[in-house]
Amino acid sequence: MTPPSPYDGDTSPAELGEEGEVAIVVIVGLTGSIGMGKSTAAKMLRSMGVPVYDADATVHRLQAPGGLALPPIEAAFPGVVKNRVLDRQALGARVFGDKEALRRLEAIVHPLVQQQQRLFVRRAALRGAPMVVLDIPLLFEGLGERRVDGVLVVSAPAFLQRQRVMARPGMTAEKFAGILRLQVPDAVKRRKATVVIPTGLGLAPTRTALAKAVRSLKKKRGHSWPSNPWRDRFTARLARARRK
Ligand SMILES: Nc1ncnc2c1ncn2[C@@H]1O[C@H](COP(=O)(O)OP(=O)(O)O)[C@@H](O)[C@H]1O
Ligand SMILES: [Mg+2]
Repeated sequence: MTPPSPYDGDTSPAELGEEGEVAIVVIVGLTGSIGMGKSTAAKMLRSMGVPVYDADATVHRLQAPGGLALPPIEAAFPGVVKNRVLDRQALGARVFGDKEALRRLEAIVHPLVQQQQRLFVRRAALRGAPMVVLDIPLLFEGLGERRVDGVLVVSAPAFLQRQRVMARPGMTAEKFAGILRLQVPDAVKRRKATVVIPTGLGLAPTRTALAKAVRSLKKKRGHSWPSNPWRDRFTARLARARRK
């Protein structure tokens, strides 16, 4: 278990500081194909004190008992939430094979996930973190890369990736092939990376590579929150000068 971080947990916009408050933060994406070591790298980064936003965990938390996504889900699909608990099977039955229903569900969950991500970054920035990492499995598959200042890509040789994934309970060669087909190939991810983090040489080299990447990425020009590209030009210079 990863120890709880002060940066985790869902937030409502009202919990954050004054709207006018400005903070600067470097936003770095962490991605990599299945089994390449994203979760492992995320844990190492957290242990270095870097706030790491976990997109998968957020999706899960939003739909956990009492989660922020439950009221709008219940409103759209009456009867699937009982006593603040989502009946996943009932919801699954309502959206299975129904493209329109699935689209409606995604239209509820996706904006909430995006909002939590923005709030996470803003909260970390207001707490003075110089950098945040966004653990987003499908960063290159979506449009997420446009909104980050740099990208860490975890990568290992294909034979290791296969070995790791096939060791997961319930995994089959067909499932693995299916997942790979939906993902941007490792070679393309590596090409788009700001820094490639090798994960096929053992844990220690990965930790060293991550620490080095963090040191260099912190020096990048950051975003200001709330976002304002014009102000960014001025405040980034200020932030760099302060960090020196
Ligand atoms: N840096 C690393 N060094 C050695 N083994 C690793 C490393 N990263 C991951 N692994 C191995 O690969 C498995 C899958 O890693 P994980 O971080 O869960 O991948 P992902 O989240 O990208 O699917 C882990 O259980 C671990 O055994
Ligand atoms: Mg993972």
